[in-house]
Amino acid sequence: MRSPTAADPCGAGDPVPWGPTGATGGWARLSHGGCSLGTLGVNLLRLYAVVDRYRGGCTFVDLGVDHGVSSLALALDAVPRRNTVFGVDLTFSNLGFDLRSHPHYHRIRGDTVTVGRQWDRGCVDLVFIDSLHVEPHVLSELHAWFPHVRTGGTIIVHDTAWPEGSHDLRWHPGADATGVKWPTPDRAVAAFFGLEQQFADAKHHGFHHVDDDIEVAHHPESWGMTVIRRKSSRDLRANVGDWPRVFAQRTQVLCSLMDAARLRWFGIDLGSAAAAS
Ligand SMILES: C[S@@+](CC[C@H](N)C(=O)[O-])C[C@H]1O[C@@H](n2cnc3c(N)ncnc32)[C@H](O)[C@@H]1O
Repeated sequence: MRSPTAADPCGAGDPVPWGPTGATGGWARLSHGGCSLGTLGVNLLRLYAVVDRYRGGCTFVDLGVDHGVSSLALALDAVPRRNTVFGVDLTFSNLGFDLRSHPHYHRIRGDTVTVGRQWDRGCVDLVFIDSLHVEPHVLSELHAWFPHVRTGGTIIVHDTAWPEGSHDLRWHPGADATGVKWPTPDRAVAAFFGLEQQFADAKHHGFHHVDDDIEVAHHPESWGMTVIRRKSSRDLRANVGDWPRVFAQRTQVLCSLMDAARLRWFGIDLGSAAAAS
């Protein structure tokens, strides 16, 4: 170890790899130098408020990373609080905020559902879902990840309040060519957690719901975000009757976005009746 100097106050000799004064000068910067809080908008503040409730030694998972705004919220205090954060995405080419060198942040390149089905890294305290914004994919994510969320843990689903009549993936030529308008993620949350009536009554207002199994806060701003705290060990996957149909629909979605070679290259498990059990 070297002696401390003004430039190297710890005397460790190596540059600080990540932090408020990290490699590219701070957390506000994406890898290409711009600054954005992405599509989370005000929900970034709500996400961090949930993260802040977990005081330490926790495991957080970010499904759909892109530039890393949600990952940043999960990783912000991870070092002093000894939290571990996993980001899952098909590609990390856009990742910014110096997250590549964050000592408690781990990138998992793969499909969010496949990674959930193969997960063997223990119970999870918080899962943030923000990848493909269509019902069968979000339902498949909930199917794969719900069993890993500990009682007292939280699942947060983003994009749960779309403007009337709008659907994701219409911008993609392959998906658009199928003519299918896939239902939005709120439909998945409503079906999985038995919240059909709450979403129908809420329209574009928020709601709060508590029962023996879950406590829910739904926020409609900035495309919507629904926060679900798990209160019991009951397996809520039983709320959905026909999982093989859900997986078949997800296959249809993915096949409209990429060809078989690409699906294989990403190692995507398209699921089967066996995966539903
Ligand atoms: C809306 S962006 C995520 C935004 C991010 N949560 C934030 O706060 O900025 C969606 C991301 O999901 C990723 N994605 C889409 N489908 C996926 C899949 N099946 N598995 C893993 N990642 C996927 C895309 O590559 C993209 O980076």
